[in-house]
Amino acid sequence: EKGGYDHFMLKEIHEQPKAITDTFRGRMLADKNMIKMSSVDLNLDKFLNANRIIIVACGTSWHAGLVAEYLFEDMARIPVEVEYASEFRYRNPIITEKDVVIAISQSGETADTLAAIKLAKSKGAFVYGVCNVVGSSIARETHSGAYTHAGPEIGVASTKAFTTQITVLTLIALKLGKANGSLSDQAFKDYIQKMNRIPKQVEELLKIDDHVKSIAAVYKDAKNCLYLGRGFNFPVALEGALKLKEISYIHAEGYPAAEMKHGPIALIDENMPIFVIATNKGHYEKVVSNIQEIKSRAGKIIAIVTVGDTQVKEIADHTIEIPDTQEALTPLLTTIPFQLLSYHIAVMLNKNVDQPRNLAKSVTVE
Ligand code: F6R
Repeated sequence: EKGGYDHFMLKEIHEQPKAITDTFRGRMLADKNMIKMSSVDLNLDKFLNANRIIIVACGTSWHAGLVAEYLFEDMARIPVEVEYASEFRYRNPIITEKDVVIAISQSGETADTLAAIKLAKSKGAFVYGVCNVVGSSIARETHSGAYTHAGPEIGVASTKAFTTQITVLTLIALKLGKANGSLSDQAFKDYIQKMNRIPKQVEELLKIDDHVKSIAAVYKDAKNCLYLGRGFNFPVALEGALKLKEISYIHAEGYPAAEMKHGPIALIDENMPIFVIATNKGHYEKVVSNIQEIKSRAGKIIAIVTVGDTQVKEIADHTIEIPDTQEALTPLLTTIPFQLLSYHIAVMLNKNVDQPRNLAKSVTVE
């Protein structure tokens, strides 16, 4: 049932090229440069006339929501707020009929997310779901939505659910950006062609597993780790830290790289591994200077870089290369080495990878 893998988590990590392809199927027609999603087409006026999009979710799904905030604002120029469902539902939030709420949930059963949906509906908002489990409570409670088609996710630590959530949300952002003219036809086509390469690129990336494993062996006994990223990859830093915490029980914090100097920099010494996403677009130069600050405090630097990078390679203790793509699409790639890293560390520490202590796959109580 584990398809020859030692754990469901590893199987599910390796299923991602297929899972992302399944998420595209029937939606992204790369040869025609088209995105067809009837759930978006049928509600296009609601999305395009929305005052804002409010994304509600928990845990890893909330991280996918944060990536979506960057995607929707960049590609479709629609204001987005991302909320922990548990906070949103209890703070007497301002919701109007002009708001679109997107609820993201792998299981479709998360109690707080479900309650946030009910609240938003009672205020007249249009609620759209991004779920993996077909026929789940959240899928049924939302007005419309899109399934991620990741297939069953058994490992408690979410992997393929996360990348397929980002995939669906990217397709929606692209579609809305095209529809409201925020994206030129050329930019839209470019994105589709780059998106279309992602499954193959993930497959390529999975081949570096041994390299990631050797890095895991070096840092498996760390007591604390920092994960840093900026822009589209800030949420990936949060997700990387969550994966490590969940299955290896090592304390880890994710931070926007520039926030480091506002506090966490005090933690850095020679015992602190710092995982930094430093892809060669967007904020590259700024991240390089963040890396230099870490270096001068003797922190250990493990950097995720774009293939062919030279600058970061000179400073970092270890680098992990990802294939080249558009900056907005890099989260689908940068997250893969972090999943593998957490997996290997947890295995080396003899932890129960698929069923970490104290955690459940669906959190049906608040
Ligand atoms: C992380 C993890 C949890 C879930 C969270 C939300 O690996 O599994 O943080 O992401 O409990 O679950 P769903 O997406 O089912 O609503």
